[in-house]
Amino acid sequence: MWEELARKIGEKTLLVCRRSGGRIPYRTDAAGRFDDQSGENISWWTNGFWAGSLWQIYALTGAAELKSAAAAVERKLDAALLDAGGMDHDSGFKWLLTAGANYTLTKDPASLNRLLLAASNLAGRFNPGGKYIRAWNDRDGKNAGWAIIDCLMNLPLLYRASALTGDPRFGQIAALHARTAAAHFQRPDGSVEHIAVFDPVTGEKRGTLPGQGMAAGGAWTRGQAWAIYGFTLSYLHTKDSLFLACARRAADFFIAHIPASGLIPVDFAQGADCAFEDDSAAAIAASGLLELAGAAGESRYRDAAERLLTALSEERLELSPDTDFLLRRCSVSWHDREHNHPLIYADYFFTEAVLKRLGKGVFMW
Ligand code: GLY
Repeated sequence: MWEELARKIGEKTLLVCRRSGGRIPYRTDAAGRFDDQSGENISWWTNGFWAGSLWQIYALTGAAELKSAAAAVERKLDAALLDAGGMDHDSGFKWLLTAGANYTLTKDPASLNRLLLAASNLAGRFNPGGKYIRAWNDRDGKNAGWAIIDCLMNLPLLYRASALTGDPRFGQIAALHARTAAAHFQRPDGSVEHIAVFDPVTGEKRGTLPGQGMAAGGAWTRGQAWAIYGFTLSYLHTKDSLFLACARRAADFFIAHIPASGLIPVDFAQGADCAFEDDSAAAIAASGLLELAGAAGESRYRDAAERLLTALSEERLELSPDTDFLLRRCSVSWHDREHNHPLIYADYFFTEAVLKRLGKGVFMW
């Protein structure tokens, strides 16, 4: 099943690359064709995912046109590296899946240069008082005390920068942020908050916010997925057992809340009468659970990942050559007006997870 699925995903990715490889997609139009964030939205946080998919399928097939299309996206992102207002906590998503993948596969020194510039900027967002990496930007510093669970996924940019330069500062900052996340985001039941708010001067915690989730006390599913995968990655890079324990608890909470359908809502607290779904949460969790299965040596995490991937491939996968996307029903946020539509990061993590299940693809993190 997995070989066949990977082959079909690869064929569709190559086809879509041929007709739209120059784009940097985020969402799709009514006909299911990619939009393009290449212009004034070049700093958008999702702008590395399409290149990430291209590199994954390049690693699977060796098709040279995928490699050149991915490298073209990476060059376009140079404009984002020069956009101080657009550089935020999401540099890992943008440059691990472009420059990082390129450097892993080709050792291009220009890609290493980009990776280290992005890592230096990310390290510069560290607040030493609160020991957290600041989330989004604003003009008046009102959000200077905000940190978000998603940021765990960007920490490998710092771990990699330390490994590549021999300078421990980057990895030290990453591990300090991950420890803060363990102490201030995870609840006793293993679920996580989306946003933690600190006093940016004293570092004291002021509270939490539900962010893209339904409400206080809820469990935004993509945030839970970021926690599973993100804590696992910090464990893989540091071997600190605290992070493995956090990843296990996040995974156990997630697995206990998977509905009978195997399809994932936007918030685990939203109730059966709400039809908002998020295939991206399912795909991220699946890839994180596969990683955790290896790190923890527990096959039940791989079984849960397979359950999620099977539900996605049977119920939500779009293999028609007429459309550009793979997964149909994602949501950016519970509070959005629009729900259940394609999103490029769902397709990336689905591709990554299916290839990972086969022992193929490239490790980006
Ligand atoms: N990192 C933003 C999101 O998950 O929507």
